[in-house]
Amino acid sequence: MEVKKVMVIGAGQMGSGIAQVCAQAGYSVYMNDIKQEFVERGLGVIKKNLSRQVEKDRMSAEEMEGILARFTPSTTLQDASDVDLVIEAAVENMEIKSQIFSELDEIAPEHAILASNTSSLPITEIAAATNRPEKVIGMHFMNPVPVMKLVEIIRGLATADDVYTTIEEMTKNLRKVPVEVNDFPGFVSNRILMPMINEAIYTLYEGVASEEAIDEVMKLGMNHPMGPLTLADFIGLDTCLYIMETLHEGFGDDKYRPCPLLRKYVKAGWLGKKTGRGFYVYE
Ligand code: CAA
Repeated sequence: MEVKKVMVIGAGQMGSGIAQVCAQAGYSVYMNDIKQEFVERGLGVIKKNLSRQVEKDRMSAEEMEGILARFTPSTTLQDASDVDLVIEAAVENMEIKSQIFSELDEIAPEHAILASNTSSLPITEIAAATNRPEKVIGMHFMNPVPVMKLVEIIRGLATADDVYTTIEEMTKNLRKVPVEVNDFPGFVSNRILMPMINEAIYTLYEGVASEEAIDEVMKLGMNHPMGPLTLADFIGLDTCLYIMETLHEGFGDDKYRPCPLLRKYVKAGWLGKKTGRGFYVYE
């Protein structure tokens, strides 16, 4: 199956990044969100990213205009009636995702694939909200999407082989590297990353070292591009907590228990970079 027209649902950090790489790879893209202002903000971020490429002489102004022309702003799921693929990057909430997938199932053409960028929710459960579970799949992009090479492709219990192959091919067209994983809590990326971040927060909580010291150890000692506390701020502490809770609930093992300090920061509204304060303070 050939994918030509895509709808990206959610114009936030992840959705706008996904929409950008799709348009850059030549796909026509509906940029969808619930409000026009959210769509405009997402498109604004994309324009800024592309303008930087033009300034750095990596892209011509004509190329940039061509990419921008591939977007159609959208505030209704009805627009999915002529797409080949939907990539959903809305909030991490099973009720909301199930609702969106059930509506898309009614609207999207029979051949269309419905993908979710969820970072930890079960693809099999999202698929169960539709009458086409064989056409539902996970496409987990990493933040910042335009820079990071990986797309974790998650097979739900019922995902068909030709759907997997189509999404694998498309991922390569986006100049990303697909990695196949099965549907278990946190998949591979967050099953490994989040306990490390949680452990870094415990290390801080127990007074072993300061924020800066913990990050420095992991940056200089393990060659990580960002220390785990900086990375947690960058991902969003609410997202980190949500994923730890999903792992804790999914596996029922105490080793996934979210650190009380993480809970406290989230309760305080210290969600990281996006709110100006997390483990660090941002201007
Ligand atoms: N959007 C687009 N481009 C961006 C960007 C963004 N948000 N942030 C940085 N970049 C680009 C910069 O423009 C720069 O590009 P050029 O080299 O072409 O100029 C390049 O990335 C490098 O940026 P910087 O020099 O400013 O900074 P850096 O060298 O520290 O790199 C980084 C920034 C790529 C984010 C790097 O710090 C890094 O790799 N951090 C770790 C990121 C990571 O682990 N992501 C996964 C998070 S987990 C996740 O996403 C999954 C989940 O479910 C939670």
